[in-house]
Amino acid sequence: MDILGLARRRRSVRRFRSDPISEEDLRYVLEAAHYSPSGANRQPWRYILVRDPGRKRRIREICEEVEKRFYERVPQWFLEFARSRGITWRKPHLTDAPVLIVVAGYRKSPHWKESVWIMIGYLLLAAEERGLATLTYTPSDTRWAKEFFGLPDGWGLETIIPIGYPEEVPSFPGRYRLEDLIYSEEWGRRGL
Ligand SMILES: Cc1cc2nc3c(=O)[nH]c(=O)nc-3n(C[C@H](O)[C@H](O)[C@H](O)COP(=O)(O)O)c2cc1C
Repeated sequence: MDILGLARRRRSVRRFRSDPISEEDLRYVLEAAHYSPSGANRQPWRYILVRDPGRKRRIREICEEVEKRFYERVPQWFLEFARSRGITWRKPHLTDAPVLIVVAGYRKSPHWKESVWIMIGYLLLAAEERGLATLTYTPSDTRWAKEFFGLPDGWGLETIIPIGYPEEVPSFPGRYRLEDLIYSEEWGRRGL
């Protein structure tokens, strides 16, 4: 399948089967991400692969605690979006998926955030190509990760990507019409 087909087919999955994934698939996905561009080629990311059930459980407990606090102060529109997608403070994907790819970013590199997220885009599509489900889970507070993972100075947790086989077939949440997002020469003038 070509890139457009993979991009159209990929969905955020929030319920995972616990079946393991192959080392080969995992390596493929990380290798595809490895070739993404980055500011000054600094490649400001590291992957911490978490498979240990005890550690996954602990990560889930911590994340659910921070999400409970987060949900007490979020705006109404977010609550409605979250409800429509079945998102709550509960994070079963953190224990159910066989592997958590914890992505750490180096905050002292130029354009580190942009670089990390382009890399994640590569990773998500490579996973889709291998028939693997993913979620870009961004905990609402990541300070706990510093000590938990022993991150060195300058490094911070950017996202946790559970990867595995899907337990659900999520619906497509839709996109704006592409034609409405493309302007020609100046803002507001429609056209490709
Ligand atoms: C930067 C970023 C952060 C996200 N954070 C979360 C998150 O914390 N929890 C979650 O359930 N989904 C998260 N998502 C997934 C989005 O909700 C999802 O991509 C969007 O609703 C579109 O759905 P789709 O991925 O199935 O096309 C995140 C996506 C991105 C790109």
